[in-house]
Amino acid sequence: MKIIMLGAPGAGKGTQAKRIAKKYSIPHISTGDILRANVKGETELGKKAQVFMNQGLLVPDDLVIDMLMDRIGQADCEKGYVLDGFPRTIPQAESLDAALAGLGEKMDFAIDVDVPDENIVKRMGGRRACVNCGATYHVEFNPTKTEGICDACGEKLILRDDDKPETVQKRLDVYHDQTQPLIAYYEKAGILNTVDGTQNMEDVFESIVQILGA
Ligand code: AP5
Ligand code: MG
Repeated sequence: MKIIMLGAPGAGKGTQAKRIAKKYSIPHISTGDILRANVKGETELGKKAQVFMNQGLLVPDDLVIDMLMDRIGQADCEKGYVLDGFPRTIPQAESLDAALAGLGEKMDFAIDVDVPDENIVKRMGGRRACVNCGATYHVEFNPTKTEGICDACGEKLILRDDDKPETVQKRLDVYHDQTQPLIAYYEKAGILNTVDGTQNMEDVFESIVQILGA
């Protein structure tokens, strides 16, 4: 099963993708997480990407496409995967389709987690992330047992650099401009499904399972 998660920054793509990955035993591939790991590791890619990420801008297509193609070519992706944060532009979607077509494959589902901009800013300010294991929390909606410490691995949690209110607004603008056109792209491809992302996390997941099948 090959799934794409669509939605604005903070819509809950990562939250839901992790649950999907667990239930259907497929890898969760977040281009944002891979890029943040590269920034932390100070790799060449990380140094280039950081400049864009901190401003709320997209990392150039060629860098992200190569990184993603490399990841989905790995052995654990044979039975499918859930993509979170990719594709984010029409050229990224076209590259993905072309690569899959070359293998005689195609994406099965695109799930748009729909949340209005007003709700997003509140979510982002309260998000806390673990750079060590990738877990995500929210101070109000999904708190940790001990404040500031990851339940899963015990590391200290951070507020992402790009979750400052002014950067969040920039990310939303970039989303509407460059990523939202993908909704029409996948509708045309006949694989688009929309879920109401303003529900609580459990209900959003229920809606997704209804689409994917138990
Ligand atoms: P990325 O890491 O993908 O960030 P994003 O798309 O901006 O999305 P977020 O991770 O912020 O939100 P999310 O939808 O995953 O929400 P979450 O589940 O955490 O990308 C970061 C940057 O990397 C980009 O800006 C860009 O520079 C670069 N990049 C990445 N991919 C790229 C690509 N393909 N091309 C070019 N550049 C790329 O939830 C948010 C918060 O809300 C959490 O605290 C969560 O606990 C809470 N929450 C979740 N669901 C609910 C709910 N139902 N009710 C209440 N609270 C909820
Ligand atoms: Mg995310």
